[in-house]
Amino acid sequence: MAVSSARSVAFETLLRVERENSYAAELLHSDRLAKLSSRDHGLATELVMGVLRWQSLLDQRLAAASSQRLERLDGEVLAALRLGVYQLQFLSRVPAHAAIFESVELVKAARKRSAAPFVNAVLRTIAGAGAEDILAKISKSPDSIILAENAAHPPWLVARWTEHYGIEAARQICTHDQKVPDTAIHIHDGRSNNGQADAELAAAGVQLSPGRLLSAARRVLAGDVTGTRAYQEGRVSIQDEASQLVALLAGRGERILDCCAAPGSKTALLARRNPGAKVFATELYPHRARLLQSLSHVPNVRVVAADARQLPFSSTFDRILADVPCSGTGTLARNPEIKWRLKAEDLHDLQSRQVAILKSALAQLAIGGRLVYSTCSLEHEENEAVVEAALESAVEFKVADFRGELEQLRQSGQMCWEDVGSLLAGPYLRTIPGVHPCDGFFAAMIERKSLIS
Ligand SMILES: C[S@@+](CC[C@H](N)C(=O)[O-])C[C@H]1O[C@@H](n2cnc3c(N)ncnc32)[C@H](O)[C@@H]1O
Repeated sequence: MAVSSARSVAFETLLRVERENSYAAELLHSDRLAKLSSRDHGLATELVMGVLRWQSLLDQRLAAASSQRLERLDGEVLAALRLGVYQLQFLSRVPAHAAIFESVELVKAARKRSAAPFVNAVLRTIAGAGAEDILAKISKSPDSIILAENAAHPPWLVARWTEHYGIEAARQICTHDQKVPDTAIHIHDGRSNNGQADAELAAAGVQLSPGRLLSAARRVLAGDVTGTRAYQEGRVSIQDEASQLVALLAGRGERILDCCAAPGSKTALLARRNPGAKVFATELYPHRARLLQSLSHVPNVRVVAADARQLPFSSTFDRILADVPCSGTGTLARNPEIKWRLKAEDLHDLQSRQVAILKSALAQLAIGGRLVYSTCSLEHEENEAVVEAALESAVEFKVADFRGELEQLRQSGQMCWEDVGSLLAGPYLRTIPGVHPCDGFFAAMIERKSLIS
């Protein structure tokens, strides 16, 4: 009997994530998978994301049942074992014999036939031990080390969050990261089209619930948004609610720069919210700049391939968004592989790049203009520390407080989240996954007072 398509796609995807440093979410949305049925696509996604989310815990179970050290196993054998133990531990609807059989067949198909009896024996041992309630163990973990172990996170990351946000917030972050995150959408021009997009999506079988942070947001309960006309015509975008909020906070202007723009979800929101403005979207990497083609629906956007550290513009901008490349630790529920790749020492390199981009973007800001610096990182080095480093001895700029902006969004009905104070850390915007119903974002608002001090 052949291996099911969902499992062979999951197996191949896990190997590519490991070997090519690719992002699972991108591979799972690539055209190569378009021929899978939606059921198989759903199962492949569940298997890949599940294995990546729980990897260290799965490896612990495997190590206890294996006669060989996991580091010595071929990549194909380890991937098949992880897929097997994930199904045994987390997917009660898959019978144990089917999970074991498919993993054995995967190693045979990958020309590792001699490892088949080993895979069979390890998975049978684990199946005999039964599954346990891991989420209950997370909720009872007394300290950051046990929390990291139970919630399958690197201990160094959980230790940092515990120190910075406290053990309860660290627990909420970890719990959030281990679940399938909600898909949120943004309905552009929602007020003027008077519920038209909602009706259209409902007619196309997409079930929605209201946004938790923003009135123009919705949560997808069921159905395929990407198959609808509203999505294909760019009237609806898929975008986490905190990401939508950052784009709203970038504000209104006439000449707007989005200097790290791909894939372009914030650019689209900015441009549709400022239809009379010229919006310039720059991106360094050509393959990522191609993702900005989806903005062709939006007439006032110009895409420019450029390095944000050397921006090619001779005139200034009244609004700038610098949504810089970052570690992404606020998005681990969507990109779980990040937690296994990131090293503490990477934060230093990221910070140097972020400071260089922020300083270069600030040089393009008009007097009286406003720049929003943002990341989807929970790490201080990439957030407050970058703002402080970029503004050190630059007295022509000042950090402005987001409270007034957030209160205005609340009063105007654009924001439905009531507790404005919970979104603030000093003058900054700070969302924490699990504490807030969204990804973890940081944003700072910087204003230019004068040309030079
Ligand atoms: C966090 S992502 C931006 C996400 C985007 N704002 C959105 O909401 O869809 C950062 C982007 O900056 C790009 N990038 C990295 N270094 C850059 C640089 N020096 N100049 C311009 N873009 C850069 C990355 O390739 C990536 O596409």
